[in-house]
Amino acid sequence: QRPRVVVTRMIPEPGLSLLRDVCDLWVNPEDRPLTQDELFSRIATAEGVLGQLTDRIDAGFFEAAPKLRGYANYAVGFDNIDVPEATRRGLPVSNTPDVLTTATAEMAWALLFAVARRVVETDALLRSGVCPGWGPLKFLGQEVTGKTLGIFGPGRIGTAMARMSRGFAMPVVFCGGRKPNQALERELGATRLDFDAFLRTADFISIHAPLNDQTRHAFDADALARMKPTAILINTGRGPVIDEAALVGALREGRIAGAGLDVYEFEPRLAEGLAALPNVVLTPHIGSATSTAREGMAVLAAKNLLAMLAGQTPPTCLNPEVLTRSTGGRS
Ligand code: GLV
Ligand code: GLV
Repeated sequence: QRPRVVVTRMIPEPGLSLLRDVCDLWVNPEDRPLTQDELFSRIATAEGVLGQLTDRIDAGFFEAAPKLRGYANYAVGFDNIDVPEATRRGLPVSNTPDVLTTATAEMAWALLFAVARRVVETDALLRSGVCPGWGPLKFLGQEVTGKTLGIFGPGRIGTAMARMSRGFAMPVVFCGGRKPNQALERELGATRLDFDAFLRTADFISIHAPLNDQTRHAFDADALARMKPTAILINTGRGPVIDEAALVGALREGRIAGAGLDVYEFEPRLAEGLAALPNVVLTPHIGSATSTAREGMAVLAAKNLLAMLAGQTPPTCLNPEVLTRSTGGRS
């Protein structure tokens, strides 16, 4: 009997073919998230689900999937999963770290340079038929080399972004994270600062922290007011880490110089007024959108799910204690 598996949205073929070899597979044929009703009816008989950051994996989801033996997230972020609830039910859940680290760190750099050198603003001008040509005082931006880079959330992606700054000779400061980060401190000579000093010191701040109760709205009106008026804020993590209405106000009034955003507080909706600002660059949550990263995510998510179905510990499990507990003999 092949295990029944639901894939809530089409993913790259290398992941699907791993699953198809072993499972009875249903893949959402449409290029959109399933509605909650569609999702709940599809998972009623599923033993494994491979889902997206747009799917809410909570008590209601688990209730709707009584045969479930594991859930694999096609994302490194897992704020869409109620991990304690999964653990209470003895169900393993996984994410896709590492395979998208380079892609996302590169995206943060793309946004930083695009904002600092006004790439999108001037591109739009030329496309609109205005061809201002070269001018000694036209379109001055900011040099990136030698400026202080601030990493908010010194995890895998934040560390990768900091490593890439070496070519630009940037002092690095960072904030957050529970564990010491030896790569940042020893290898890059980076300095850990408290939030206030971090905000006041960094020329460019890039957000890489996970979304949780501690980081939600960390960048509110008060935090934005403590940043340099020349600062640029980059977010390739999760939208709600920034109070987006406060950001629009700060950008409009020139309290910070610019922002490059790949994620949004009310995704896929943009805060009122954001799209009208010339000093922002906006991309639609494409941080991991390279063929290399997306194929890596597909294969890793599939391997995670196959391990769960086989009763083995998945490569990147978020709650491995549920498996050690069961192999130790559940009472
Ligand atoms: C994308 O946002 C991810 O968390 O992988
Ligand atoms: C600019 O194009 C320069 O040559 O200085």
